[in-house]
Formats: sequence, C-alpha cells, structure tokens
Amino acid sequence: MEKVQDYIASNKDRFLEELMELLRIPSISADPAYADDVRKTAEYVKDKLASAGADKVQLFETAGHPIVYGEKFKDASLPTVLVYGHYDVQPPDPIELWDSGPFEPIIKETKLHPGGAIFARGACDDKGQMYMHLKAFEAMMDAGEQPVNFKFMIEGEEEIGSDNLGIFCKEYKEMLACDVVLLSDTSIIANDTPSICIGLRGLSYVEVEVVGANKDLHSGVYGGAVANPINVLCDMIASLKDENHHITIPGFYDDVVVVSEVDRAKMNEAPFSLSKYKEGLGINDIMGEKGYTTLERTSIRPTLDVNGLWGGYIGEGAKTVLPSKANAKISMRLVPNQDPDKITKLFEDHFKSIAPSGVTVTVSPHHGGHAAVVPTDTPEYMAAHKAMEKAFGKEPIPERSGGSIPIVAMFEEVFGVKSVMLGFGLDTDDIHSPNEHYGLFNYYKGIETIPYFHDFYAQLKK
Ligand code: BES
Ligand code: MN
Ligand code: MN
Repeated sequence: MEKVQDYIASNKDRFLEELMELLRIPSISADPAYADDVRKTAEYVKDKLASAGADKVQLFETAGHPIVYGEKFKDASLPTVLVYGHYDVQPPDPIELWDSGPFEPIIKETKLHPGGAIFARGACDDKGQMYMHLKAFEAMMDAGEQPVNFKFMIEGEEEIGSDNLGIFCKEYKEMLACDVVLLSDTSIIANDTPSICIGLRGLSYVEVEVVGANKDLHSGVYGGAVANPINVLCDMIASLKDENHHITIPGFYDDVVVVSEVDRAKMNEAPFSLSKYKEGLGINDIMGEKGYTTLERTSIRPTLDVNGLWGGYIGEGAKTVLPSKANAKISMRLVPNQDPDKITKLFEDHFKSIAPSGVTVTVSPHHGGHAAVVPTDTPEYMAAHKAMEKAFGKEPIPERSGGSIPIVAMFEEVFGVKSVMLGFGLDTDDIHSPNEHYGLFNYYKGIETIPYFHDFYAQLKK
C-alpha cells in the first residue's frame, strides 16, 4: 500500500486539475437542454476510467442518460467490489446566489476547510466523491496492487430518481454480480470526526394541484364568496402536521420501525453542537417533531416538507386577483419498513379527503424510493471501519443519514448485497444549494482511504 500512497501523494495536482475539468461540464440531468453536456460528462468519465486501467470500458445507453461501465478482473478467488457513483448534478438555481460560476470551479478557503475547498455544482455531490474512486483505482493499478476484482458503474440520473439504472441493473444482473457495492455519496461528521453512513431515508414525492373557479376572478367582486385555491391549499398543508409536528395522515407511522432506547442513546452520543448548528444556518431556534433530538429527527424519523408552492400573482406590484388554482411539491422522507408506494397512496387518499367542497384536488406522484440500513457486523463494514481509522488516525462513528439514494435499497433487492457508504463530504458543503463545495482535504483523504478499504475487505472476506 506504500507504493499506492506514494503515487497519490505525487499526483495530487493532476488529480485536482482533472476534477476541475469534470466540474466544468454542466451535467444537469433534470434539464433536457443539457443532454449533450450530460453525455460529454459520461464520455469524460469513460475515458478516465479507461486510462486508469479498466477493461471493457463502455457507455450503456438507456432511455435517458448513459451509464459508464468498466471492470478489472484479476482472479475468481478474490471478492468483487462494484463501485457506484453518479456524474449528474442538480440544477444550479438560484444562480444569482452563487459567488462564482457554478461550472467555473475555483478554490477558496472556508472556516471548515482551512486547507481550501473547490466550489462548483457537483464538487461534493457527486463528481468529486465519485472521481476519488477512479484516482484510487489508478493508483492501485500503477502500483500493481489489486486485492479485489473491480467493477465500476457510474450513472447520470441519480438526481432524477435512477429509474433507468434500476432497469439496467435487472437486465445486466450477471455482468454486475458482486460481493459488495461501494459508494461515496454521503457525509462524515467533521474532518476530525470520521463517520460511516449506515442508513439512508426513503422518499415519497408528490405534486398537488387545487383548482377552484374555471378562471382567475376579481378578488373584490368574488372574494369571500368563492373558494380561493391558494388559501385552501395552505389550510390543507397546515393540517398535515399537528402542534407537535407529528404528521396527521392516518396510517403514516404504522410501519415505522421503533428504534430502541439503547440505540437512540448511542446515536445521541455522536458529537453535535446545537449552537454551532443554529449559527451555521443563521436561525435562532430549531423546529421539529416533539420528543426527538435533531440527530434523530434527521435520521430515524420520517418527515413531510413542502419543497415548492406557487399560484396567483407574483409579479411586480399588487394585482387584486382570486386565482383559479394553486400548486405544491411535497416530499416525505421515509424510514426503514415504510413503503413509498403505500405512503404515496395514504397521502393521496388523505389529501383528497380533506379537500373542502368547492375545489378539485389532484395528486401526481413523482419518483420515490425505499430507505436502507446496513449492519455493522459484516466484513465490508469492518473493512470500511479499519480503512477510515487508518487514514484519519481515529475510529469512525457509524451514523444514519437523512438523505436518500433510492438505488441502494435496489442493489440489495436485485444483487442481494449490502452497500458500503464511504462518504467524505460534510453536511455543510451546501450540496443542492448555491456555492456547493468540497474540501481538498476531503478529496485527497478519500483517495487515500479507498485503497485501504479494498485491501482490508480482501483480507476480511477470506
Ligand atoms: N448524495 C445525495 C444523498 C445524500 C446526501 C445522502 C447527503 C446522504 C447525505 C443524493 O445525490 C441526493 O441528493 N438524493 C436525493 C434523492 C433523489 C431521488 C433525488 C435526495 O436525498 O433528495
Ligand atoms: Mn449524490
Ligand atoms: Mn444529490
């Protein structure tokens, strides 16, 4: 492993330049206008995977964006690691809130990244974290150290629900057969507090529309006598939670796994500063479900949030109008054992049932996904633990995250294997927000840690 680490140490500048180049391509999967750039990004990843030493490198076409695949087989007696990542990114909007161009990566120091961080859309989620695997692989190839068989599958649709990757995995189940999936698309607690993600939440996402009169009306002539869809929608949304911030949809909590007091106590031992949390967000108080700590609210408890709300007149000045319709996008983060389709149905039935007469309500489901938890008593988790400990000089803490990566539950379902979520970002890296960034420390630490993982995994899996 010394040769591997030497190679990494002497190629740091190039590793960074290559990531910058990758970040300059706006691979926004949600916007069809960027389809060519998404493909360019896939080509770039493909070329770099091939030059790093992978075989059978190719793009697999899907009904949407292409999937990059490559492998390096060594020996049937070795375990196979399937490395997963995504090269697509979220739209950069609102663009005016960026201090520099979202696709013009620059390096700046921050309080939490005194050694510098690279600012660009996708820097952390997930181009920077995905690219660490290519560079770690390159270093291992150069040093002639290959403790495992490698497969790489890098998709371009994670940010839009991974539907086509799901289809691809089922179709190419044999080609993709592996002992474990390895990904870096989650966070650590802090740069001096390594952690390993052992859980993700699921997701149910719906769009709702409330329609009143068949046209916009004068709010003086009709106001007070005809349902205002915006008022109605706000009332309906407000009723979805009670005064304890408990979700009121009947049956919503039925399948929620109750976490034991012992596990909750352990979970709350993780370092967390409420004052720093509030300070970082510029808020004077937190808000959430009664009876749970912030760490619990963002990991083991389901949530319901309005992601967008629109309707009526939002232009300059005042226009008196009683709008004919109102819309909202609503997400529910789910915990293990909650079925996204069932939750979507419960939401739909309930939401329609609380609609007053005088309006029509429609509910349209978007993508969803199951939560995932991974055990800590497996060779793969132990290998991740040892790799983190070796690279950081400190034992990592297992931690359940609040985010969602729906394909992780699918990997388990289709391949019958667990995933190792060896992420290196920080929750404060502003993923999906303006000024997303990724610490240089984190980028290099990830590249250094990954080869240790493969090495320990090969040893422990024997
Ligand atoms: N990498 C994130 C998920 C994540 C972030 C997990 C931080 C843990 C910590 C992923 O790219 C993502 O943004 N997922 C979406 C869901 C997807 C279906 C759009 C999410 O969580 O909103
Ligand atoms: Mn991601
Ligand atoms: Mn994301």
